[in-house]
Amino acid sequence: MEKKILYSGMQATGVPSLANYIGAIKNWVNLQKDYNCLFCVVDLHSITVRQDPDFFRTKARDLLTLFIALGIDPKENVLYYQSHVPAHSELSWILNCYTHMGELNRMTQFKDKSQKHEDNINAGLYTYPVLQAADILLFQTNLVPVGQDQKQHLELCRDIAMRFNNIYGEIFTIPEPYIAPVGAKIMSLHDPTRKMSKSETVNENNVIFLLDDPDTIMKKFKRAMTDSLNQVRYDPEEQPGLSNLITIYACATNHTIEECTKEFADSPGYGYIKTKTGEAVVSMLEPFRKRFKELQADPAYIDGIIKNNAERANIMAQGTLAAVKDAIGFPK
Ligand code: TRP
Repeated sequence: MEKKILYSGMQATGVPSLANYIGAIKNWVNLQKDYNCLFCVVDLHSITVRQDPDFFRTKARDLLTLFIALGIDPKENVLYYQSHVPAHSELSWILNCYTHMGELNRMTQFKDKSQKHEDNINAGLYTYPVLQAADILLFQTNLVPVGQDQKQHLELCRDIAMRFNNIYGEIFTIPEPYIAPVGAKIMSLHDPTRKMSKSETVNENNVIFLLDDPDTIMKKFKRAMTDSLNQVRYDPEEQPGLSNLITIYACATNHTIEECTKEFADSPGYGYIKTKTGEAVVSMLEPFRKRFKELQADPAYIDGIIKNNAERANIMAQGTLAAVKDAIGFPK
């Protein structure tokens, strides 16, 4: 049977965090066997916020390199920059004309982002979900792994696709959400009632970044917030900090929460648990960091991957774009 097509995108806003890895990227690595996957560094989306040119270029390249270091095979999957495939922009314009302002007005992410960037509420921020729809629909995507925050955008994408198909026939595959087997939710190390977020601005110690060196990782874990109950129980309500450490330890060692809680039951204190968790995370991340450095030291290899993947993505996208233009009636 033909493998289904799975599409996901990520913005290059800083090095991904441990939460991004455990909650999303690790899943992608597992999905690549069963699906035809496209993973896109969505750099066109990034310019809805002002970017420093050099920093922007570096971050985008680092993210793509990191994906490879984390185990995404750039030959089996299509791993590319959105800006290298002009069809994204072209289809996005077309789909703008099949999207209602009323629909975009309802997008909660637009409302949130406009509040955050009051000085730059640009039209791109507003039509961001249409570009995202174009990403997905260009490749006849069957499945899109979605977190809670992207559900509304995928719903809109489906609505746009169905509207278009109703007018012109079956041009687009209607994508479905891919609900990952419940992944662990990793919380901030200092404020374990909040998600660990890579765009953390308050305190860097809250977040483990995937390229942190072992010393930094150990330091961050040693400072992690726990409680004064002095008992080892997995109880995210009463003991959120400790429970977060147990979750991280379980993910890093591939054990269950129960096994890890048991293992820690007689530990001499929370300090021991912090150290063990830090060490487990170092063991998990260190090979990725090494591989990242090796890849970075071989720019010609990365350049080749980028070029080859952009070519493949362009070829794949052309079919859909041509069908769309033909259906609408653009001159041949
Ligand atoms: N908007 C997504 C996010 O912020 C990123 C994204 C862009 C995306 N295009 C996509 C995700 C297509 C899935 C499919 O996380």
